[in-house]
Amino acid sequence: MLSVVVLISGSGSNLLALLKASENPLYPAKIVAVGSDKDAPGLEHAELYDVDTFIVEPERFSSKQAWAEKLLANVQHHQPDLVVLAGFMRILPADFVAALRGKLINTHPSLLPDFKGAHAVRDALAAGATTTGVTIHFVDEGVDTGEIIVQSKLDILPQESEHALHERIKEIERSLLVRTIEEFAIKQKDLAKA
Ligand code: GAR
Repeated sequence: MLSVVVLISGSGSNLLALLKASENPLYPAKIVAVGSDKDAPGLEHAELYDVDTFIVEPERFSSKQAWAEKLLANVQHHQPDLVVLAGFMRILPADFVAALRGKLINTHPSLLPDFKGAHAVRDALAAGATTTGVTIHFVDEGVDTGEIIVQSKLDILPQESEHALHERIKEIERSLLVRTIEEFAIKQKDLAKA
């Protein structure tokens, strides 16, 4: 069973999809903890599923480095095989990324390398894009630059609002994330057997 820690900052609909999937005993991953940089609404999902939560707020630390060390310590405490950034809206410093290399993934609402950063949906609309999508990728030291695992494309509708488009993206994103983690778990199991 793959142990997963999920980090969120927002409503946690991707997290909820993972929690629901892992209720199925045949799903090969288990969410062991959910962390956030704030008292995010999505933490409630974890509480409803009796999953441990932790909050590490940057404002309480004298430096970004000190914050990230504490966040990492909380993550490592749960000894995860995989750490998933599911709407976690902070950039993580290089030491954090290095400590979790190969087991830190992010889901992003655009077809990377297009529209990196915190406002990917807004930026795609502002650029007049006619298609966008979702990317799930390994996290490296850059912002949304790590190796791409999987992408899914969707057409932008005429006059579509940022909210409506983001909701349609998230619908695709949730199932893609559930499937990608399932595949990651199966691969890890095969590697362990080899
Ligand atoms: C998701 O669309 C995720 O891709 C995005 O935040 C949303 C979180 O939704 N992440 C980023 O934009 C990171 N750059 P959720 O809280 O409902 O899962």
